[in-house]
Amino acid sequence: MYVCLEGIDGSGKSTQLEMLGEWLEEYGLEVFRVFEPTQSPPGKLIREILTDSKASTPQYQRILGLLFAADRMILMDKIRDAEKQNKIVISDRSFYSSLAYQDDPEWIQEINRYIQKPDLVILLDVDTRQALSRFEGKDHFENQKFLEGVRKNYLELAQKNNFFVVNANNGVRKVHEDIKIIVSPRIGRCV
Ligand code: TYD
Repeated sequence: MYVCLEGIDGSGKSTQLEMLGEWLEEYGLEVFRVFEPTQSPPGKLIREILTDSKASTPQYQRILGLLFAADRMILMDKIRDAEKQNKIVISDRSFYSSLAYQDDPEWIQEINRYIQKPDLVILLDVDTRQALSRFEGKDHFENQKFLEGVRKNYLELAQKNNFFVVNANNGVRKVHEDIKIIVSPRIGRCV
């Protein structure tokens, strides 16, 4: 099974991914953790571009779209291997991040055509002001107006693609409980 946490920057994905991973391991399941962008060469290039003010220009948005798709294509083999070994793949972001963050969804769909999609997507939905208060904006994407747009895109994607939506304005413990309620029936475990 391939489970993905999605959400805007500051929605608490990495904390929740760690808590989810530990909870699954406590139950005796083997877990493979994924963080997009990854540490692959395109992933490293992505991080470099994200800190540059050019990142939001249309040209660099397209360059990023391609690099995210390449990074994901490299990652796919690792996800398949983990699944073959019956590991649960839990991921911080996926192809849906590109749909939420980059322009031109049709083109993003096209360049991600061969990418494996997660079986279960949980959107951590958070107020942008609360999200921004959780970190010092380090990348170019981390400003309120931009994040408002991304949040809106995510909520639309959630409707169209049947994501589970968790209110991530709540405290860390409550969000973790909500995530467990969604995941437990799929792994045959009581909460
Ligand atoms: P992020 O999850 O914040 O990584 P880290 O916690 O290591 O900084 O991802 C970095 C940024 O990349 C974030 O602002 C979201 C953006 N992003 C996209 O624009 N498109 C994508 O496809 C992905 C995976 C991320």
